Amino acid sequence: MNIRELLNERVLKAMHACGVPDHLPALIAPGKKAGFGDYQANGAMGAAKALGTNPRELAARIVEQLDLQGIAEKIEIAGPGFINIDLDPDWLGQQVAVAERDDRMGLATAAQPQTVVIDYSGPNLAKEMHVGHLRSTIIGDALARLLEHQGNRVIRQNHVGDWGTQFGMLIAELEEQLGADREAGMALKDLEVFYQQAKKHFDDDAAFADKARNYVVRLQSGDPAILALWQQFKEVSLHHSSEIYQQLNVTLTDDDVRGESFYNEELAPLVTDLQQKNLAAENDGAQVVFLQELADKEGNPSPVIIRKQGGGFLYATTDLAALKYRVEALKANRIMYFIDARQSLHMQQVFTIARKAGYVDNTVSLEHLAFGTMMGSDGKPFKTRTGGTVKLAELLEEAIERATAVVSEKNSELGAEEIKAIARKVGIGAVKYADLSKTRTNDYLFNWDSMLSFEGNTAPYLQYAYTRVQSIFRKAEIDPASLSGDISIGTLQEKVLAIRLLQFGETLDQVAREALPHLLCTYLYDVASLYMSFYEACPILKSDVSPELRNSRLRLCHLVARTLQQGLDLLGIEVMEKM
Ligand code: ARG
Repeated sequence: MNIRELLNERVLKAMHACGVPDHLPALIAPGKKAGFGDYQANGAMGAAKALGTNPRELAARIVEQLDLQGIAEKIEIAGPGFINIDLDPDWLGQQVAVAERDDRMGLATAAQPQTVVIDYSGPNLAKEMHVGHLRSTIIGDALARLLEHQGNRVIRQNHVGDWGTQFGMLIAELEEQLGADREAGMALKDLEVFYQQAKKHFDDDAAFADKARNYVVRLQSGDPAILALWQQFKEVSLHHSSEIYQQLNVTLTDDDVRGESFYNEELAPLVTDLQQKNLAAENDGAQVVFLQELADKEGNPSPVIIRKQGGGFLYATTDLAALKYRVEALKANRIMYFIDARQSLHMQQVFTIARKAGYVDNTVSLEHLAFGTMMGSDGKPFKTRTGGTVKLAELLEEAIERATAVVSEKNSELGAEEIKAIARKVGIGAVKYADLSKTRTNDYLFNWDSMLSFEGNTAPYLQYAYTRVQSIFRKAEIDPASLSGDISIGTLQEKVLAIRLLQFGETLDQVAREALPHLLCTYLYDVASLYMSFYEACPILKSDVSPELRNSRLRLCHLVARTLQQGLDLLGIEVMEKM
């Protein structure tokens, strides 16, 4: 149980003893400023209002009933009825000692594990991954790691775009470009160039365009020769994506791919089903669902086309089939979609139809976890100098290059191989952290210099803080696992650091609930900063420090290192022992 839960339980018990009705909250929060308690219980004011009594008096009665024996050293009433709680240093020392020794650092696993489907990355296979896929890929992956760590069954779903009319054109082009060895790899070495060649061919050559159209039809009707070409194209393109995932330290594998094509067989029955349920109706030869729930200001229902006039299916149809599959076959309790905010209406439409059709009942949580756009320094969506889309592979190369310069400058004693390994972790970490540390729903400015800085809330700062802690153990030639003895919390720096360390679990719970990784970043940044202040104020290896105190402080250091490492790992960011 974390501190907040423990205090909540105790304060509620005291409130009930004072006649406060069960449903009123204790409102436990960490104290915001020094001198205002390590934690505050702010529920007395609301409770007094409900009971029609004086809040300060009620707070005093609650405090009389409050049993925090051995947990708090001081309980005070402030202002109109805040209850300020100062935690007992001995108790904190014991809690921190348990966490430091524990495999999971005292982090609980979910009381009721869920099956969570996470839809993320989802690149379009016709083209190379570009910066537009970065946010979904890394935010989704952080949540997948975190929810898994909490003991949930996480099912990753990479909803790649591997179907649609453009594949006719691409397959026709591939057929022309295939060499004698029939290997697609060479022709598709640069997907972007290949796509442009196909497009030009399509636009300039009527016969080619006809062939492309014919291939779409043959692809859809399952012609084996065309399917084989499509398969080849898909494999090469997926291989490009896998390379990016590896480079990014993202956990997606080929097994997680459930592309649009996976749902082909389900689309026609789905449309029939929606017709039978009187949800879809014919409109100008198309099948359309009209949603009054999402009506515009004038009251016009929101139209969702699920089958085109010519019989083709759409993005929404596929998403409905995918949603049905996730509930029925994967048995999801919670489905999280990490998709650009610009697809909000689409997601709302899909969710609404799925609920109305009875594909998803109220026990399943459907969440579109939208995010803002990555902006360039000009305040416009991030582009190349010439205004083109930035390939993810190139962006990551540049990150590593820039990190190499930064790392070499910082430490001239490292060998070339070491620098290379460190620069990869720093460069990739910096790009990911810069993104993850911003409030998910906002747009953010992409800036190389600030993300690679060793100061401020950045990956290099946290990675560096980790190496600093580790260097203490190297210097003292101590294996942290061998440390024993109590942890004593004697100074203010030790106390605030201990409390923050013990808030890891409640931070992770909140990130898991709200899918907001920036809260974890802020937390880790706090831990690293509090560690720096502790390190300044509290000598560890000096000769006048007693062996007991030295061990106590080393154990605190060890928990800091483990927290930073674990926290960064949940964000998909690696640490190193030196830099
Ligand atoms: N391929 C889509 C795109 O690039 C993203 C897929 C997101 N997932 C989904 N279930 N719609 O916009």
